[in-house]
Amino acid sequence: MSLERLIYRSTAVSEDCATEFDRIVAVSERNNERCGITGAVTLCDGRFVQVLEGSSERLDPLLATIAQDPRHTDVHILGRWAVTGRLFPSWSMARADAARADAQLRSWLRSDDYGVTLVGALLTLTGLF
Ligand SMILES: Cc1cc2nc3c(=O)[nH]c(=O)nc-3n(C[C@H](O)[C@H](O)[C@H](O)COP(=O)(O)O)c2cc1C
Repeated sequence: MSLERLIYRSTAVSEDCATEFDRIVAVSERNNERCGITGAVTLCDGRFVQVLEGSSERLDPLLATIAQDPRHTDVHILGRWAVTGRLFPSWSMARADAARADAQLRSWLRSDDYGVTLVGALLTLTGLF
């Protein structure tokens, strides 16, 4: 089984997306556990940034589902790599709290910088790095 990691960012549609964010994390925890997907997601200044890890066979259909979700738009993949291990092995979907982000992290999360930088930002926010 080939393991891959990808990161994308998107724009939340609703101004009041905090409640939706809770729902998204809850459904992700439940579904991802079942199909061996791990990762982290944050909502920062109206943007979602999510890292997903799993087999490409599982990632592709999940990404297609997520991309069609009407709660966000402008889904843009910032990086996708074959990897030998997971960065979020214990998290079917870690909730990265953007309130913990300092000015530097926040500016990265707002940017379309190299995906690897944003993976680092999510690791920092989840306290794993
Ligand atoms: C930013 C964002 C991230 C999401 N991440 C996931 C995810 O990691 N796993 C997942 O199953 N659904 C995720 N969803 C929700 C899916 O788009 C979809 O609503 C959900 O998979 C449907 O699950 P259900 O068929 O069990 O109701 C995400 C949605 C958004 C807007």
